[in-house]
Amino acid sequence: MGTLEIRKLGFALGAEVSGVDLTQPLDDEVVADIRRAYNDHILLCFPGQKLEPRAMAAICRRFGELDDNRHSPELRYADEPDVILIANKPVARVGREAAVAVRADLWHTDFSHHERPTTVTFLFAQALPAVGGDTMFANTYLAYETLTQAFRELIDPLHAVHDYSLGKLYANSSPEQRARSKALNPPVVHPLVRMHPETRRKTLYVSSKVRNIVGMTVEESRPILDFLNAHAASPEFVYRHRWSVGDFVLWDNRCSLHVAVQDYDKTQMRSMLRCSLLGPKTGKLEKEDHR
Ligand code: OGA
Ligand code: MN
Repeated sequence: MGTLEIRKLGFALGAEVSGVDLTQPLDDEVVADIRRAYNDHILLCFPGQKLEPRAMAAICRRFGELDDNRHSPELRYADEPDVILIANKPVARVGREAAVAVRADLWHTDFSHHERPTTVTFLFAQALPAVGGDTMFANTYLAYETLTQAFRELIDPLHAVHDYSLGKLYANSSPEQRARSKALNPPVVHPLVRMHPETRRKTLYVSSKVRNIVGMTVEESRPILDFLNAHAASPEFVYRHRWSVGDFVLWDNRCSLHVAVQDYDKTQMRSMLRCSLLGPKTGKLEKEDHR
C-alpha cells in the first residue's frame, strides 16, 4: 500500500483519505491504492476538494466505465452527460432547469432495478443545508455474516425482483412520467445473496425496491424481506456521513445500502455532483426469468 493516508470514520464502514492530490491526473498506482481502500472500507471520503463536472468525470472514469445517465436525461450536464446534478430544489442551468427534488429517502443500493447495477457511486458536495441532510450507509457483508447458518442456507439460493416503481420518485411522478419510467425501468431479477467479485465475500443484496422473492408471492415474501431490510439497517452496521462542502465521497454499492436522511430545512439548498460506474450485467429482466 503506497501513498494514501487513511483514517477510519466508522466501525461498520467508512474512511477518510488524505495524501492524494485530486487536481492532478491519478497514476495507476494511486488508482489501485484507492480501489484497495474501498474494498477494505466500502466508503471513502476525500475532504476539502474543489471539483467541476469535467474534472470530476475525469477522476471517476479512472475507476471504470461511467454511466451516461440516459435514465435521468433531465439531470445531466449538457457538455458532460456522465455527470448529473442532484439537488433538493430546481437549479437554473445553461438553457434549462434541473428536475426537482431527487430524494433517495428509502434504503437502497444504486440501480439495483437495472440489469447492470451501479458498482461505485461518487458524490461531490457543492452546497449543504446549515444542519442535517446526512446520508446513512449500511454494510451488507455484516448483514449477511451475522445471520444464522440456517437462515443463510435458506436465502443463499434465492433470487429477488427489484422494481423501480416501488421507489418514492416514481410514486411522486406524473402519470406520463410514470409510463415513461416503467418502460425505461422494467423489473429485474438479482440473486438475494451475491459474491463481491473483488473481495470474494458474500453480501446480502436487499433493498426497499425488492417486490418479491422469485417463485413466492408478495405476501409470502414480505415477512422475509421486511426482516432482511430491517436487519441490514441495524444501527451497528451503519455509518452516518455528516457532509461538509468539498467532500468527495465514493461508495461501493455491491456491499452497502444507503439512505438520504430528510432532516433538514428544505428551503435551503443541498446539491451534489454525481457520477456512477456502470457494473457488469448481473441481473436479468423479470420476464426473461424462467426459473
Ligand atoms: C445517490 C443517493 C444520497 C444523498 O446519489 O444515489 O442516494 O444523500 N444520494 O444525496
Ligand atoms: Mn442512491
